[in-house]
Amino acid sequence: MVNISDIRKHYNQGQLYIHELDENPIHQFQTWLKLALDSKCNEPTAMVLSTVSRENKPSSRVVLLKEIAQGGFTFFSNYQSAKGKEMDSNPFVALNFFWSELERQVRVEGRVEKIGEDESDAYFQSRPRESRIGAWASRQSAIVVEGMELQQNYKLLEEKYKGKIIPRPSHWGGYRVVPDKIEFWQGRANRMHDRFCYVKMDDLWTIQQLAP
Ligand SMILES: Cc1cc2nc3c(=O)[nH]c(=O)nc-3n(C[C@H](O)[C@H](O)[C@H](O)COP(=O)(O)O)c2cc1C
Repeated sequence: MVNISDIRKHYNQGQLYIHELDENPIHQFQTWLKLALDSKCNEPTAMVLSTVSRENKPSSRVVLLKEIAQGGFTFFSNYQSAKGKEMDSNPFVALNFFWSELERQVRVEGRVEKIGEDESDAYFQSRPRESRIGAWASRQSAIVVEGMELQQNYKLLEEKYKGKIIPRPSHWGGYRVVPDKIEFWQGRANRMHDRFCYVKMDDLWTIQQLAP
């Protein structure tokens, strides 16, 4: 077994200069995302979403970015899932993208809101039929008790909706994270990484360089 404390990676792919950053962090993010897509990064739209419960306990999981619109980051989920309940009681969330192939990380903090029902409907209908049935078939985050047949339930729903339009369940839809802080991190040699953090105050973004 490899001794994990001996694992060391040297970062040397890039460098960030403040004068090369866009004034708007969303535009800067789009530039980085495009490179991640063009560079064939593994799961370039995967992001870790962190939420905080009513009891102030944080939890994280991966979700997929589906759109950047109206100044925010959109993903889709089950509104009654564990994360859905946490976001109902506390809208402050964080997102984290890690593009290891580019030695880059983006950290986003902000407030989450549900997107419009029409937007959720449109995206739901664009999903493959199997995923649409899946949204009905699974009570995301519920404990699966013995005897509960997830696959059987899926098959029943498949039968029910055969040849029919599958409506979006009202407990499934989109969220938009509207950021007030976005940090861009580029790995550098000798752990002297570049970090630039955009902070929104009075509707204006300012950029601060942070020590690595
Ligand atoms: C690569 C990847 C992509 C995922 N995308 C989503 C997603 O877009 N929406 C979602 O609800 N769950 C997604 N999941 C599953 C979540 O990580 C998580 O298991 C699920 O949402 C339940 O989380 P919760 O119990 O904290 O609510 C994804 C998981 C992985 C590994």
